[in-house]
Order: sequence, then C-alpha cells, then structure tokens
Amino acid sequence: MSPITTERLSDDVGIEIRDVDVDRLLHDDEIPAWCLDALEAHGVLLFRELHADDDAQVAFGRRLGELVKFPHYANPEVMEISFDPGNPSAKYFAANDHWHLDGSLDPIPAKASIMSARVTASVGGETEFASTYAAYDALTETEKQQYAELRVVHSMSGVQRRANPNPTPKQEADWARWPVREHPLVWKHETGRRSLVFGATAAQVVGMDPDESRALLLGLEERATAPDRVYRHSWTVGDMVIWDNRGLVHRACAFDRSEPRRMHRSTLAGDEAIG
Ligand SMILES: [Fe+2]
Repeated sequence: MSPITTERLSDDVGIEIRDVDVDRLLHDDEIPAWCLDALEAHGVLLFRELHADDDAQVAFGRRLGELVKFPHYANPEVMEISFDPGNPSAKYFAANDHWHLDGSLDPIPAKASIMSARVTASVGGETEFASTYAAYDALTETEKQQYAELRVVHSMSGVQRRANPNPTPKQEADWARWPVREHPLVWKHETGRRSLVFGATAAQVVGMDPDESRALLLGLEERATAPDRVYRHSWTVGDMVIWDNRGLVHRACAFDRSEPRRMHRSTLAGDEAIG
C-alpha cells in the first residue's frame, strides 16, 4: 500500500489523514483494515475537506462493517443532524451538547460513527472528543479497585433532563418510553483494554447514595474531559470524521440553533456489548 501521512490532533485523541481521497477510500483494498486499526489506536480519524457525498460515505462505511438503519430519513443509512423543524429527530439533538457515547441505551452500542459536515455554523458548532480509555488509565490503583465492580443505570430521562431541566409531563412520558440500561462503570473490552462508561445517560450508580453517585459520575466526567484531554474539531464543509464510539465520549459545542448547520452521520453497528 502506498504510504499514508498522518498528523496527531491532540495528546490523547485523533489523527488527521492526508493522501487519501474518496476514490482511495472506496477502492484501495487495504484501506478498511488500515482505518479500523488506526481507529482503535487513535480514536478519531479526520479527513479534511474530503467532500464525500452520501453515497460515497455509505459505500465507505459498508467497507468497514454493517451500517445502522435510521428509517425516518430519506437515505436510511444517513442520519441528518440539524435543528430544522422538519427533521424527525430534532427534539432529541439538544442533548448532543452533553458528553455521551452513541447507543448507550441500546443492547450493543455503536462501534463507530462517520460524520461529514454539509453546512457549518458561523460561530461554534464544533465537536469535541475525549478518550475513555485514557480516562481509565488515568485512575489511581485504588480507584481502579474501588470502581471495578460498580454498575451504573443509564436512561434517556438522565440525558434529556440535562438539556430540559423543567420538562413537561408529555416530555417525561416520551422519555419513559426509552429503555433503561445497566452497564458496568469499567468496560472490559474483548481486546483486553479497559475504558470508563460515563456521560449524559449515566443516571445512578447502583446501590450508592444519590448525591455520592452524582458526585462520582460528574467527577469522572470532569477529569476525563478536561480541556487538555480533549480534541475539539472545528468543522469546514466537506470534512469527514470517523470516531471509535467504544473508547470515546463526544459532544457538540453550542451554536445558534436558528442557523442551518447540518451534519450527515452514518453509524457502524456494534458487535460487543458493554461488559
Ligand atoms: Fe452522538
């Protein structure tokens, strides 16, 4: 394979990939395995101003694995993320401002996400990424022992309440339709690596006093997402980013939601439950 030049984007997370265009992503036989290895090692892969259209993004995604279907969208393998009132999921996107991993309420969370910028915000609207592998590695040995067996309840009301602190009864009823899921705090991956599972859906450590639980979960989140541990991507139209959803949390930065910022995301189905 002809060489690929990369450049680190931050200490813990991310590389930019040069020398790769859409044609190479779709036709180089060695690219899929190379990308999956790089994703495991670096968490975020940035292809700056790649300008992959939906068909190219989907074709590339299928080379990496199985894509999740979003039946409410014109192209069911491309979720359009925007605050356009016509967007069928617009009401849920406000919670993207909080650190999370995609699919934490599903039996098996997403493996990775591929996202391209179609319309950017004039100010803000960046996406931030923080490694949850690095978060685990940064714990003290005492903490690793204390947290080894803890389990955490995750729920939609946990995350939506952060974005909507005073919900209407209708909103509460809507959130209650989502499953509640219990996960270990420490994810022991099949690779042997360990990561912390926290973020906006993490509502309560099982069996712990609620105040103590909140302090623990928010404290871990704050440490893991301190500015020097985060890669913040400022989008240019045409940028495509892939992130390893199993070893990272991410969030969207604030922007004027009356602006037509629009991102197109395809999601690689997971093959490993949090365990
Ligand atoms: Fe997300």
